[in-house]
Amino acid sequence: MSTAEFLPYGRQSIVEDDIAAVAAVLRGDWLTTGPAVTAFESDIAAVTGGVPAVAVTSGTAALHVAYAAAGIGSGDEVVCAPMTFVATAATAALLGAKVVFADVSPETGNLLPDAAAAAVTSRTKVIAAVDYAGHPVDAAALSTVARNAGALLLEDAAHSIGGTWQGRPVGSLADLTTFSFFPTKNLTTAEGGAVACASPSLLRRAREFRNHGLVRDRDRLRWPDEGGWHQEVHEFGLNYRLPDVLCALGSSQLKRLPWFVSRRAALHARYSAGLSDVDGVALPVTLPGAAPAWHLYPLRVLGGRRRALYEYLREHGIGVQVNYIPAYWHPVFADLGYRRGLCPGAEEFYAAELSLPLFPDLADSDVDRVIELVRAFFR
Ligand SMILES: Cc1ncc(COP(=O)(O)O)c(C=O)c1O
Repeated sequence: MSTAEFLPYGRQSIVEDDIAAVAAVLRGDWLTTGPAVTAFESDIAAVTGGVPAVAVTSGTAALHVAYAAAGIGSGDEVVCAPMTFVATAATAALLGAKVVFADVSPETGNLLPDAAAAAVTSRTKVIAAVDYAGHPVDAAALSTVARNAGALLLEDAAHSIGGTWQGRPVGSLADLTTFSFFPTKNLTTAEGGAVACASPSLLRRAREFRNHGLVRDRDRLRWPDEGGWHQEVHEFGLNYRLPDVLCALGSSQLKRLPWFVSRRAALHARYSAGLSDVDGVALPVTLPGAAPAWHLYPLRVLGGRRRALYEYLREHGIGVQVNYIPAYWHPVFADLGYRRGLCPGAEEFYAAELSLPLFPDLADSDVDRVIELVRAFFR
C-alpha cells in the first residue's frame, strides 16, 4: 500500500485465483449445500491435523454452534476469558448459561489455567479460552482443568488458524475449536466461520444445529416409515449454513494460509525489532511452545499513555485499534451485576493495549512508518 493512504489495522488479501474460484461456483449448479462446502470442510481439516470441521456463517455462529453441541443451557456455567470480542461470552449467555469470567495473563491476554481452575464449579460445562492475537492458549494445562471439572474445553481460535502449540496445530488442541473468517482475520470468506471437533457425537450435534436440527439418518428417525421425503427435528437449531460461493473463497484462501502466517510473522518481527528499545512500551510476548499465527500486533503502552498514542497515530493516518475492553465491561454484563475489578489481569492488559496495523499485504515501508511515528511520540 502507498504510504499516503490511511492504514487500516487489518484487511483482506484477495487475488485473481480467489475471484476465479468464486466465479466458478456462481456459474455452477450449487450456490449452497453443495460440493464446495464439503471441499472447504476437508481443506480446513487439513490445517487442523485431520480434525473434522463444520463450516458456518461466522465466528459468532461457530461459537453458538459449539456451545449448543456441548449441550449448554440454563443452569450451566461457562468459564470464559474476558479478553475477547463479546461474542465468546454472549453466545453462551444467549443459551441461558451463567458466564463466569476467569482472569488472563497481563502479558499475553490468554486465559490462565490456575484462574480457570479456581472458577470451575459442579455446574461448569465448558471452559472457553481465546487464542488472543493469534497466540495459542496453554491447551494442555486447560484441557486438564476441563477434564478434572468434567467440562469441555472450547478454544476460540478466531485469531489463530495456522498456529501451533507444542508442535500441534490449533484445531487439534481442544474438544471444540471455533474459527472466524471475517476479512481482517488470518483468512477470509467475507463472513464465515467453522467449528472443528474430533468427537463424532459433538460433530454430529454441531452439523445438525447448523441446519435447523434436522435429522435425516433413517436409523435415527422416530417415524422412519413416513416416506422418502421425511426428516425430523429432535432439538432446535438454526440456519448457519455457509454457502458454496463463500466456501470456494475459503478453499482458495487456505492455499495461501502458510504465506499469510509467515508474512504476518515477518511483519510482527519487524515491529518488535523497531520498537524493542523504546521506553514506555512492552512488546507482545511469545511463550515457549507457541508458534502463533499473529492476527494482531498487540503493543502495550505503559504509564497511562495508551489513549494519547492512539489519538496521535490516528491523527497521522494510522488505523490503530484497541482489542478489547474486558467483555464484562459491556453494559449488558454490567446490568447483570458484573463489576469492574473482576479480572485485574484483563483490566491491566486492556489499559495498555494498542493494536498496530497488521495484514499480509502491508508493506515493510508502512511498518517502518508506524515504527517511526511511535518512536517520535516517545521522544
Ligand atoms: C476472539 C473472537 N471471537 C469471536 C469473534 C466473532 O467472529 P465473527 O466476527 O466472524 O462473528 C471474533 C471476531 O471479531 C473474535 O475476534
